[in-house]
Amino acid sequence: MRTPPESVNSLLARTSLERRPRIDALIIDKVPERREAQPPGLPRPALPEEVGRRLAEVSLLQAAWHTYCPPMRHPDADLREHELRADPYTVHRIQDQSYARIAEILARCSGVGHEAALDVGCGAGFDTFALATEFDRIIAIEVQRRPLRTARRIAREHQLGRVAFQRQDACIPASGGPFDFIYCNGMSHYTQQRARLVETLVQSAKPNGWLFIGEETEGYAPLEIEKAIGERDNRSLRARLRQVMNGILGFPAFRFFASGTLEPLLFACGAEATWSDTTDWVGLPYFQRTWARRVSETILVDEIHGDYTDLPDELGQLRDVCKPLVGRRLTRDERFRLLEFAESGGRLAPFAIFLLIIEVIDARLSWETSLTEKIRNRTPTRLKGAQPDWERVDDLFTQFRDLVAARHHAEIPSQN
Ligand SMILES: C[S@@+](CC[C@H](N)C(=O)[O-])C[C@H]1O[C@@H](n2cnc3c(N)ncnc32)[C@H](O)[C@@H]1O
Repeated sequence: MRTPPESVNSLLARTSLERRPRIDALIIDKVPERREAQPPGLPRPALPEEVGRRLAEVSLLQAAWHTYCPPMRHPDADLREHELRADPYTVHRIQDQSYARIAEILARCSGVGHEAALDVGCGAGFDTFALATEFDRIIAIEVQRRPLRTARRIAREHQLGRVAFQRQDACIPASGGPFDFIYCNGMSHYTQQRARLVETLVQSAKPNGWLFIGEETEGYAPLEIEKAIGERDNRSLRARLRQVMNGILGFPAFRFFASGTLEPLLFACGAEATWSDTTDWVGLPYFQRTWARRVSETILVDEIHGDYTDLPDELGQLRDVCKPLVGRRLTRDERFRLLEFAESGGRLAPFAIFLLIIEVIDARLSWETSLTEKIRNRTPTRLKGAQPDWERVDDLFTQFRDLVAARHHAEIPSQN
């Protein structure tokens, strides 16, 4: 039942390792904690000599990079020094993050053309303007009206006529293609069908054109759930628990994808992944970035249904264990067996504990099509979900975290 379509399987098998690109995973630890700024007026402590020497080396490297680095093709789209009329989050994303981020991403796209780029699920143009510094023409698509309004206003106020924001579903090919570069960051988990999205993106690229896709993977919801528990944020907790269950059960709603599964999907759609890296939470990848090039017309995607060319075994096992238990209260025996599986199954087995957490909050939360849940979503916020037993939720989550950490530590020696 989890066997992918024969032709995809055999094609992937026939393409031996030397033909298929190797995905190199660069594991970066969780984002470093923020340091408190030095209070004004206090003397700065002297830097140790070694640190000073290293900083001087870094400055030299930076100077060399700036000398070597080609000038921006379109400085009119550099909005870092401009006043932007937008909410603080949008301003921060555009001015403090996007330019360095897009430069880093494009640095991996050797020989990329600069005529046209597509930004898919662009939000309020968080990275669109940075893209516009390198491409002559940008099409940016988004389904929500409000962020689009903000993005269009920014473009208008800064006379960026080369950037067109369009309200459109990403699974429908965008007008203005084919594109030299396609950028799709953090939106694939909202689409109805990941395979259809990837197919559309690949087909919208020029031959040899580049694609960059950033995706939320298995660690994303746990990372947010830990934060929600810490902040006693019931709303976020419930939303992220749904993300976990949708990802496990394979519902075409707000979900996660198992890491390492985009490469074969890209391949089936006619693109080859050239590089991939992940950012981790307790050793679980929570975000995966993948660079790929369109290499052929091979489109096998019609034979792929859903999100995977081949459902990973560990996700399949977890799905089989959870499916009969969703949407209802569990018996003692079922709880016991869930815990047993969480402790002894594959890499994703600890996720079974989320069913126990959901039971503490509201068993119906795990069932995507629950009518009660839909009705509840229409009721005023104050009536939405009573506060859960936070201590019990915290206990179960700690159990999940410990199991994940133990597996991660057990894996480290075998990787070396
Ligand atoms: C998490 S945000 C990411 C925004 C931006 N790409 C970034 O990197 O911050 C995902 C965006 O994708 C949009 N989106 C969701 N489904 C979409 C679809 N089917 N077609 C186009 N945009 C979509 C959402 O409205 C949202 O603005």
